[in-house]
Amino acid sequence: MSLPKRIVLVGPMGAGKSTIGRMLARELGYRFLDSDRIIEERCGANIPWIFDVEGEDGFRQRESAMLAELAEQPQTVLATGGGAVMRAENHPVLRKDALIVYLRTSLEQQVERTRRDRNRPLLQNDDPEGVLRHLFELRDPIYTRLADIVMYTDRKSPRLVVRQLINRI
Ligand code: S3P
Repeated sequence: MSLPKRIVLVGPMGAGKSTIGRMLARELGYRFLDSDRIIEERCGANIPWIFDVEGEDGFRQRESAMLAELAEQPQTVLATGGGAVMRAENHPVLRKDALIVYLRTSLEQQVERTRRDRNRPLLQNDDPEGVLRHLFELRDPIYTRLADIVMYTDRKSPRLVVRQLINRI
């Protein structure tokens, strides 16, 4: 099996990008990179703080810079944040030497998996489900267009998703 240099996971909040990415990396002997966690480490602050102080724009700038840096790392599985596809300038960066996997997840599952989550600033409001629906309508075509593989994750354990992914890589 000839593996792609990098595997990049895209998809909405609650798709399981971090959990699946970590397991997939372990199976392939690749390094796991989580864009949001590395941004937090570098910044010395969590994502809610960054949104609060620098606004979403500030976070997106950090995210674009981080994606460009991480695109240079071979033999990695990269979990991106759900909004990483929203800047067109990130698309060639995400694609560079990469197989892009879209973890496609229903709105119901997104809602279920992000319930009572305090670390996602976009969902700290009266209608997190409405936000997830709006973002999904906006982003689903972009994820789909970018992806080499669309993998459905509903009603599947992370282990099963990883096994099915390995069969398709
Ligand atoms: C965001 C998703 C989050 C994080 C930030 C913004 C988004 O990542 O990057 O809160 O715009 O969808 P996850 O998809 O890992 O939750």
